[in-house]
Amino acid sequence: LKVLSDSATEIRVELGTRSYAVLVGDDLLGSLMSFMPEKGWRKAAVLTDSNVGPLYAAGVVETLRAHDLETVLLEVPPGEGSKTFEQAFEVIGGLMESGFTRSDVMFALGGGVVGDLAGFAASVFKRGIDLVAIPTTLMAQVDSSIGGKTAVNLPAAKNQVGTFHQPVAVLCDILTLATLSLREFRSGLAEVAKYSLITSRDWGGELRADPRAVAEATPETLARVAAECVREKAALVSADERDTGVRHYLNYGHTLGHALEAAGGYDGTYSHGEGVSVGMVYAALVSEATGLGRKGLAESHSAMLVQMGLPVAPLAPAPGFEDIEPRMARDKKSDGGFVMVLLQEEGRPAVVRDLDPSLLRSCYDALLAGDFRK
Ligand code: NAD
Ligand code: GLY
Repeated sequence: LKVLSDSATEIRVELGTRSYAVLVGDDLLGSLMSFMPEKGWRKAAVLTDSNVGPLYAAGVVETLRAHDLETVLLEVPPGEGSKTFEQAFEVIGGLMESGFTRSDVMFALGGGVVGDLAGFAASVFKRGIDLVAIPTTLMAQVDSSIGGKTAVNLPAAKNQVGTFHQPVAVLCDILTLATLSLREFRSGLAEVAKYSLITSRDWGGELRADPRAVAEATPETLARVAAECVREKAALVSADERDTGVRHYLNYGHTLGHALEAAGGYDGTYSHGEGVSVGMVYAALVSEATGLGRKGLAESHSAMLVQMGLPVAPLAPAPGFEDIEPRMARDKKSDGGFVMVLLQEEGRPAVVRDLDPSLLRSCYDALLAGDFRK
């Protein structure tokens, strides 16, 4: 890797021969090839969606072509609905048609949907080609672009089909966040809040002190907060790449969050972060109800998330517990019973197995009733 601009931070994900750099900074897109490892690629595919493509793809394609890479642009519709087998097959068909070989590369330019889909396609095409992530949402910059999880959804539950396929580099250009809608920005803030809740490190003091400050953040603040989150994720991924232990903590709030998204048919009623936000309040209620968590956890979660403009209870009409329960049971952490990441207090997560379904139901009722509010 070449010398970084003054404003860029490099964080390493240490995974032996599959280690890679995550660059966080502003205006990285213009000089993206200077951050690429020497791989001898001849062709590049840029996968994006039809919101991000018109904003950023032309510049990326031009840069790649200027470096003698034969480049094709592939575009999918925006939204969770694109994380399907069918869409992955279409992407793979595009690579086949353009004569891609195993020594070529895929660039994922977009949010977590594009990243998960591109990663999945790149991991199975010819048994795996290189992947470079250029995340353009806060969600993707702080979470989904790092760690190599790829996925498509099934109607019954989210992320049920996927692979582990680490990228060879991740470029988080903070300036791309300028075009993000407030709703999508806040969705990313839910994952930032998650890091804040599962870690005892004071990586974002301004977030705890005044969450609203983050929503009005300058590029410098954003780059600092993003880099802190990336550091946290990189450490958990390096410690547990295959998600059998501490990496589970990153799923705080996701058990109910994923179930809400799936129950809505991935129709966009919940953004991923909105589902996680509601899911974290639920996880806090379950933590309290099991006796593991300190009293008042759900209330303080809720206060913080409301300040960030995030939902803290299921939107009406809320799905019934009988619809949610089987979806939560399919959580990938599960080995048969109900399993969730819970908190003893902020910074002290724990994976708890064999949770009592009736306790889960009563906590869901409490969530619907807003029982955690003062
Ligand atoms: P997304 O990819 O759907 O992006 C949200 C919206 O913002 C889309 O409409 C997109 O077109 C638009 N957009 C993206 N970048 C933009 C920009 N710079 N300017 C304007 N519009 C822009 O959603 P997301 O929140 O980025 O990601 C959510 C997905 O990520 C979910 O599928 C979730 O399961 C997945 N995820 C995966 C991991 C992982 O480890 N692999 C971790 C967290 C989340
Ligand atoms: N988003 C959860 C993980 O990467 O493990």
